[in-house]
Amino acid sequence: MFEVVSNEILAENLHKMVLVAPRIAKARKAGQFVMVRLAQGEERIPLTIGDADPAAGTITLFIQAIGASTRKIVSTPVGGFIRDVAGPLGKETHITNWGRVVCVGGGVGTAVLFPLVKALAEAGNEITTIIGGRSERYVILADELGALSKNLLITTEDGSLGYKGFVTGPLSEMIADPARAPQAVFAVGPVPMMKAVANLTREPGIETIVSLNPIMIDGTGMCGGCRVQVGSETKFACVDGPEFDAHLVDFDGLSDRLTSYRKEEAARHAAEGCKLAKEVAK
Ligand SMILES: Cc1cc2nc3c(=O)[nH]c(=O)nc-3n(C[C@H](O)[C@H](O)[C@H](O)COP(=O)(O)OP(=O)(O)OC[C@H]3O[C@@H](n4cnc5c(N)ncnc54)[C@H](O)[C@@H]3O)c2cc1C
Ligand code: FES
Repeated sequence: MFEVVSNEILAENLHKMVLVAPRIAKARKAGQFVMVRLAQGEERIPLTIGDADPAAGTITLFIQAIGASTRKIVSTPVGGFIRDVAGPLGKETHITNWGRVVCVGGGVGTAVLFPLVKALAEAGNEITTIIGGRSERYVILADELGALSKNLLITTEDGSLGYKGFVTGPLSEMIADPARAPQAVFAVGPVPMMKAVANLTREPGIETIVSLNPIMIDGTGMCGGCRVQVGSETKFACVDGPEFDAHLVDFDGLSDRLTSYRKEEAARHAAEGCKLAKEVAK
């Protein structure tokens, strides 16, 4: 059992939860995740270890409550318990000092980006972080990421905050300017966003790493649920990733697998009277 010691709302549907998990806090590295199950009979879901305090024996999760399981998890009050938190799982991020690095986050991918930005900053990289959302309401962790980055650029599709448009706008401007072009790019977010970033950096040959979010069931390499095509190989994101070379990932295949259960998800959201139903069904 893992005690919840803090549960803050950072933005609409986004919670920062701190749990007592001393073994994981000590062992975790940037890029790794945990499989969380609230109670017996509930589903297991993967969540990135956002941060850890080995001295206090705690880990931090940034959770966007978008469906049944994440909503139940974030409703656990301070002093309450989560039954299973298994990890750390996945490979740690390869961190080195590239020099100029651009970190790109979209939607909940921004939460997954947080520990990467922290580790890259600690390694001495000069970081520009670009975060985007549909509107101001969906832009998360701006203060936290701004504190770790040399520059923080925000984009919104409706122009309600920062640049109007997609995260790829400021990224392509930087790539075109030899004085600002990055040596490496990290991108985490929706599949079309990661694909667009990979397409921008492929031709100039900028090393680009993406953290993939396929459906995961066991998180241990046994079920095959998270398989993705990377170059000529089939990889399991839970044990071989979740980070991969963006220029080798089959984003179209990943997208097809992620949308396999759209109808069932829409039906479940509709049954719960959730406003997301129409969006999920699109
Ligand atoms: C390695 C990894 C790290 C992640 N880290 C975070 C994080 O730090 N914070 C965060 O808020 N979210 C994170 N996610 C996504 C999170 O696991 C899903 O949002 C969650 O499983 C949705 O469950 P649900 O029941 O609330 O929603 P559902 O109603 O089941 O689904 C809502 C959406 O989430 C997707 N989804 C459903 N189940 C999974 C699954 N098992 N794995 C991946 N996507 C799924 C669906 O395709 C759908 O679009 C991560 C996913 C992966 C693979
Ligand atoms: S989640 Fe089962 S193999 Fe990766």
